[in-house]
Amino acid sequence: MEFPRELLTHLQAAEKVVVFTGAGASAESGIPTFRDALTGLWENFDPMALATPQAFDENPPFVWGWYEWRRALVANCEPNPAHYAIAEMQNYLSSLVVVTQNVDDLHERAGAKDIVRLHGSMHHPYCRDCHLPYTLGPVTRGGGEEVPPPQCPQCQGLVRPGVVWFGESLPSDAWERALEEAAQCDVLLSVGTSSVVYPAADIPRLAKEQGACLVQVNPDETGLEPFLDFSLQGPAGEILPALVEAAYEPA
Ligand code: OAD
Repeated sequence: MEFPRELLTHLQAAEKVVVFTGAGASAESGIPTFRDALTGLWENFDPMALATPQAFDENPPFVWGWYEWRRALVANCEPNPAHYAIAEMQNYLSSLVVVTQNVDDLHERAGAKDIVRLHGSMHHPYCRDCHLPYTLGPVTRGGGEEVPPPQCPQCQGLVRPGVVWFGESLPSDAWERALEEAAQCDVLLSVGTSSVVYPAADIPRLAKEQGACLVQVNPDETGLEPFLDFSLQGPAGEILPALVEAAYEPA
């Protein structure tokens, strides 16, 4: 695979890199993106309608069952070459921060050390009422059925997924860190995100405004094209390992 010489030079000279990831980074692990059709119990439902506080209030077992299905799916998936290539870049830079919209744990399972989670984590639920964190056991009912959410041991409130839903604010510490890293980085790689869900989608644009070189890895076009310095069209699991090799381990 050939890459523009100027892009490789940017990566070699970079001290700080931010990798901004979305669902497409996990697609080659077998996790459907938000734009893919849902299956089973949820095939006629829009994920945008399930991922809301209102959907959970109206039918908690339905929404909790959807997240248990996703947790089972992730438990049976492995990080893919894109996750490993991102972790490997840590060896060549003084700072590599992964700013992710994903709620799975595949970046950490691949060895990424500094991860900013803009949309929370499916592995860290908490009580809807008193916000006490709740420790999940291994997933046992992820076959696509409705599952009643557990009850909070402290206040008996319902436990909800630890993810950010539509209409909710992003965790302020994660958001502030992401803004800071975007402002300071030399290169921002935007990987596998449609860049249409705000405010997360502001991060690559802000990095560009502050002088970073902006690179996109995606098989399709997104909302980011007008701002890009380099567009690498194709699957992240093929492009990223080749890019890391070309930039940092040339023959
Ligand atoms: P989307 O599902 O919107 O977009 C996935 C992107 O990944 C698309 O641009 C695809 O072209 C791209 N893609 C698919 N396969 C790929 C591959 N193998 N390699 C690289 N790219 C690939 O996912 P996000 O942009 O992450 O929000 O969505 C952002 C947010 O919207 C999510 O975090 C979630 C969602 O609704 C909340 O839950 C709040």
